[in-house]
Amino acid sequence: MSQTTYRAPESGEFAFDAENEALAQRIIARYPEGRHRSAVIPLLDIAQRQNGGWLSKEAVEFVAGRLGMAPIRVHEVASFYSMFNKNPVGKYLLQVCRTTPCWLRGSDSLTQTIKEICGIEIGDTSEDGLFTLIEVECLGACCNAPMVQINDDYYEDLTAKSLDKILDNLKNGRVVEKGSQTGRIASARQDGPHILVDFDPNPVSSGILRGDAVDEEAPGPGSAPTPDPSLEEKADAAGKRPAGLDRPRNGKADALIKIKGIGPANEAALAKLGIFHFDQIASWSPEEATWVGTFLAFPGRIEHEEWIQQAKTLAGRKA
Ligand code: FES
Repeated sequence: MSQTTYRAPESGEFAFDAENEALAQRIIARYPEGRHRSAVIPLLDIAQRQNGGWLSKEAVEFVAGRLGMAPIRVHEVASFYSMFNKNPVGKYLLQVCRTTPCWLRGSDSLTQTIKEICGIEIGDTSEDGLFTLIEVECLGACCNAPMVQINDDYYEDLTAKSLDKILDNLKNGRVVEKGSQTGRIASARQDGPHILVDFDPNPVSSGILRGDAVDEEAPGPGSAPTPDPSLEEKADAAGKRPAGLDRPRNGKADALIKIKGIGPANEAALAKLGIFHFDQIASWSPEEATWVGTFLAFPGRIEHEEWIQQAKTLAGRKA
């Protein structure tokens, strides 16, 4: 009987640091024994982030070794998905969507703006190492076309002028406004609602969108799922519960959904923990972030999505 063999992975100098190793272990533990290779995509993502935004051969083969996979299988995954970069990229990876809705709404002018401001062509990295430009297909934000993804964030409703400003702010280390550049909420019509104008939205979901007070008792699409008591036990074992408030200060909660990674359900779940304001999240210690991440059943995501950093920025802007 023939047997498939493969050369041993060559991890070289690459290895997860302690924090990423702990995160990798938690991810791998989600899969039953014998199915750990299912963790290949999240582990490649961790490796790419640790490796400065791209996957070297050593990083890919480290993941192969970590999961007991043939290196070729992991190379196949890494080369199939466009979110994995096979070459070094700049500090800011600019992905211009060029699919029809964005193209009709001016994506060519966005690409041209980047070329002129950064002095690069598609596929290049600027001399200062700040920007890499690539064009991609639909990123699923067509309602707010044209749009560009910069690292993990979407910048929507762009014009050449607003993109110019974003690039300038990034270049000079200034805070940039993510999401719609015209103030549009989610993918609502730009000129306001034309249907359901007398609809009385659920207090929780409408409060979340407008930053109003959150009615914790109200059910609705944005309400938190019933907490699993075992998650609280796990969270207590993993970290330290952050102090919460009885109610939002001045009866008005911050719109925590402005923090990338927090959606309506998580905002409602945080409200149940007494977390209503950016400055509360901004002050979390690592142990408190771990507690919340475990409680919300996505350990490690708070750190990856930099909730605390985002909250500090938003709290500073509010002050
Ligand atoms: S076409 Fe650009 S996000 Fe869909």
